[in-house]
Amino acid sequence: MFVNVRLPDGTVHRLEALEGWRVMEVMRDWGLPIKAECGGACACATCHVWVEGDWVAKLVPPTDEETEMLDGAFQVDERSRLCCQLIMTPELDGLEIELAPESLSDQPVETVAAGSAG
Ligand code: FES
Repeated sequence: MFVNVRLPDGTVHRLEALEGWRVMEVMRDWGLPIKAECGGACACATCHVWVEGDWVAKLVPPTDEETEMLDGAFQVDERSRLCCQLIMTPELDGLEIELAPESLSDQPVETVAAGSAG
């Protein structure tokens, strides 16, 4: 299964994902520059993404903890999620998300992943 991630520079990266993995871990493991400072503990909001289109409704709703943490992020709207709280399941194959600019780290994009989709 795959996750499609748009970076703030407009490039889209199609990343292979495994069931049970956090979307944040998938991005990090493929070398995308995501801050994710707390390492997935729902304690930093530097893994803020916007979920595209109909995918919002397919996700498990955020916990109170996630909603509270998102309050501290910038440009939060109804598409906002912390991607360390999104667990990959077969239903999410093809998930499309955009990384919020404040969650972008300085590290260069290393991924060659499964190829960039444009
Ligand atoms: S990595 Fe810190 S909240 Fe997601």
